[in-house]
Amino acid sequence: MEKKNILTGDRPSGKLHLGHYFGALKPRIELQDKYNTYVLIADVQALTDNFNNPERVSQNVREVAIDNLSVGIDPNKSVILIQSMIPEIAELTVYYSNLVTIARLYRNPTVKNEINQKQHLFGNKGEGVTYGFLGYPVSQAGDITAFDGALVPVGEDQIPVLEQTREIVRKFNSIYGDTLVEPEHLLSENPRIKGLDGNEKMGKSLGNAIFLSDPEEEVSKKIMKAVTDPQKIKKDDPGNPDVCMVYYYHKLVNKTTLEKVCEECKKGTRGCVQCKQELIAKMMEFLKPIQEKRKYYEDHPEIVDEILIEGTKKAQLKAKEVMKRVKKSMKINYFE
Ligand code: TRP
Repeated sequence: MEKKNILTGDRPSGKLHLGHYFGALKPRIELQDKYNTYVLIADVQALTDNFNNPERVSQNVREVAIDNLSVGIDPNKSVILIQSMIPEIAELTVYYSNLVTIARLYRNPTVKNEINQKQHLFGNKGEGVTYGFLGYPVSQAGDITAFDGALVPVGEDQIPVLEQTREIVRKFNSIYGDTLVEPEHLLSENPRIKGLDGNEKMGKSLGNAIFLSDPEEEVSKKIMKAVTDPQKIKKDDPGNPDVCMVYYYHKLVNKTTLEKVCEECKKGTRGCVQCKQELIAKMMEFLKPIQEKRKYYEDHPEIVDEILIEGTKKAQLKAKEVMKRVKKSMKINYFE
């Protein structure tokens, strides 16, 4: 049987953090042996809310590539590509835009949320939202279908966007005949990572994130301020690990002393400061290999460029093949 394709994407608009790692990066690393994996650097999508700040996008394209490489995306197994270099995606977006109503896009909860968060760009009530931003789920359908993406591992916030892709695919196939692969969502074990402050979501703009590239001083400062059980005031008060962010992160990165941490906290034989210091050490054990690889790629930008050029070339071949199929189904393959 032919291997299925995985397609995932990251917007290059900033550094990646633990939320990205557990929600989106870790699953794709594990899956790259079993599937053909395409990792798309979504610069066109990033421009939908950074159109007035193009440097932010262009400067982050290589950063996101390095983030992926340093956590274990292997360029011999996976294809890393730059979205704007695949014009077929833009072409598909135009055709798909006939299959989506504006009302449906406004109802997409992820889009709605983002419009609310970006009042500086789109106005207090979203009255200034652009056609491009509102339509990014349509272009994301282009990202996925241009590579016959069958599985899409992403965090929880992207489920409604993927649902919209599925609707577009079904509509396309019902009108023009069976042409596109309908993708499925692949939810990671930890689809959403809480912030250091206990917020349900870790986010760059929320100021509660540990970045994959944070140096030890930074990690240390952040963890020392993390929220613990508010009932545990003195060092020997028994604590409740279930409401403690420090324990929450121990669960993610501490593979060796987790049970001990939990028991001692409950018994009141472990102070929060000690517990935080141990977490800092475990967090650095987790981040160090990633940061060493990052440094290697930062010191060898020509290798990163080569990987992006090669990946994009392979991706172009695949997208061309899909485009041919699409045009044939839509009966706009005039001189064939
Ligand atoms: N919308 C995704 C995000 O904000 C990024 C993305 C772009 C994506 N194209 C994609 C994710 C295709 C999955 C598949 O994180």
